Amino acid sequence: MHAHYLLWIWIHFSFGNTDFQNPCQKICLCKEGAKFVNCSGVNVTDGIIFPAETEHLDLSLSNLDSVPSKGLRSLWKLQVLLLSGNRITHAGEEAFSALESLQKLDLHGNEITVLGSSFSTGLASLQELNLSYNRLQELHYKSLQHFENLQKLSIQNNNISSIEMGAFRSLTRLRQLHLQNNHLLNLHNGVFSMLQRLEVLNLEGNRIKTIASEVFTPLNSLTVLDLVHNEIEHVRFKTFLSLQTPGTHILLSSNPWFCDCDLQRVFAKLHSVRRLILDDYDNLTCMEPQVLRNLSLVAVDTQLCIAETVTVLVITFTVFITVVAAIVMAERNRKKRTGKHWSEDNDLSYESQD
Ligand SMILES: *[C@@H]1O[C@H](CO)[C@@H](O)[C@H](O)[C@H]1NC(C)=O
Ligand SMILES: *[C@@H]1O[C@H](CO)[C@@H](O)[C@H](O)[C@H]1NC(C)=O
Ligand SMILES: *[C@@H]1O[C@H](CO)[C@@H](O)[C@H](O)[C@H]1NC(C)=O
Ligand SMILES: *[C@@H]1O[C@H](CO)[C@@H](O)[C@H](O)[C@H]1NC(C)=O
Ligand SMILES: *[C@@H]1O[C@H](CO)[C@@H](O)[C@H](O)[C@H]1NC(C)=O
Ligand SMILES: *[C@@H]1O[C@H](CO)[C@@H](O)[C@H](O)[C@H]1NC(C)=O
Repeated sequence: MHAHYLLWIWIHFSFGNTDFQNPCQKICLCKEGAKFVNCSGVNVTDGIIFPAETEHLDLSLSNLDSVPSKGLRSLWKLQVLLLSGNRITHAGEEAFSALESLQKLDLHGNEITVLGSSFSTGLASLQELNLSYNRLQELHYKSLQHFENLQKLSIQNNNISSIEMGAFRSLTRLRQLHLQNNHLLNLHNGVFSMLQRLEVLNLEGNRIKTIASEVFTPLNSLTVLDLVHNEIEHVRFKTFLSLQTPGTHILLSSNPWFCDCDLQRVFAKLHSVRRLILDDYDNLTCMEPQVLRNLSLVAVDTQLCIAETVTVLVITFTVFITVVAAIVMAERNRKKRTGKHWSEDNDLSYESQD
């Protein structure tokens, strides 16, 4: 009687209820019971519920247009979740809130335009997040707030033009930040505050033109700063001097440099700072002034201040001549006057010495 009842339950849950699908029965590949569940390439439906013991779940290329939150609700043991190559358009509403053991989340190659303010809720164990190749336009203050353990963040190849102040403030353990190929226009002071452990900052292929002079100051551990292929015309010495790590590699080629004496001085000073390594300095080319276009900075470097030196020399010479002329004139005037009023002058000078 008892056994019969259990059998009925088993049948009911396996076949009877259409809402319930066990992915390990024919649909997906499972290993070690249901510890590893691979549904990659399978059209997963909304009704699928994954076994509670699952630790690795591959749902890449599964034709999903949203995060299957219902099916993920009991996966407290899940460590790796792959959702890349789907058509997910938004991620938020606590979609991952039950996944308290999750260490790696891959969402690359979707169509995500916005991260909700509760996107990070429950993901305090997450170490690696890949959001590359999506359509994000902005990073908001609240979206990343619970990622206290995040070490790698990939947001490259999106459409990000603005990062709200404080968006990265919880990421105190972050070691790599990949922001290349976005639409960033400038770097404000404070945007990277709290990223004391950041080692790699990739900003290649943005449209960065202005860099605030204190923006890199908080980055105490930085070893690679990639600014290749931006819109930088000029930099200030102070901006890079604030990097205190012994040995930071800075990449600056493919920018439209404005080659003037000022720029030459900045680079001369940067070269004298031992801890800063300008790996691609030989590849820097001038965009302006027109006469120097496409010439390498190295080739013109020593000449940029010559015009200025000549100007300084001319001014110095002019001043010198003027001063000499003035002295000569004064001397001549004095001689004229002494000839006429010798006695008067003498009296006066003796009086004033008393
Ligand atoms: C899942 O299976 C596909 C082939 O069906 C394979 O390419 C992929 O690497 C597997 N995923 C994992 C995490 O092993
Ligand atoms: C998944 O669904 C799409 C259409 O939504 C279809 O083109 C594709 O063949 C399906 N793939 C599988 C493996 O069933
Ligand atoms: C994120 O995914 C992209 C695309 O597959 C890959 O190139 C990149 O290396 C990944 N990021 C990390 C940190 O693994
Ligand atoms: C990227 O954002 C800009 C506005 O910042 C918009 O005009 C453009 O259409 C966006 N591109 C994509 C592919 O979403
Ligand atoms: C400089 O440019 C050359 C030719 O484009 C390239 O082969 C080389 O790798 C570049 N060097 C650096 C350090 O980027
Ligand atoms: C500079 O080089 C680019 C390609 O590297 C070329 O398209 C452009 O015409 C060159 N400009 C001048 C003034 O030589």
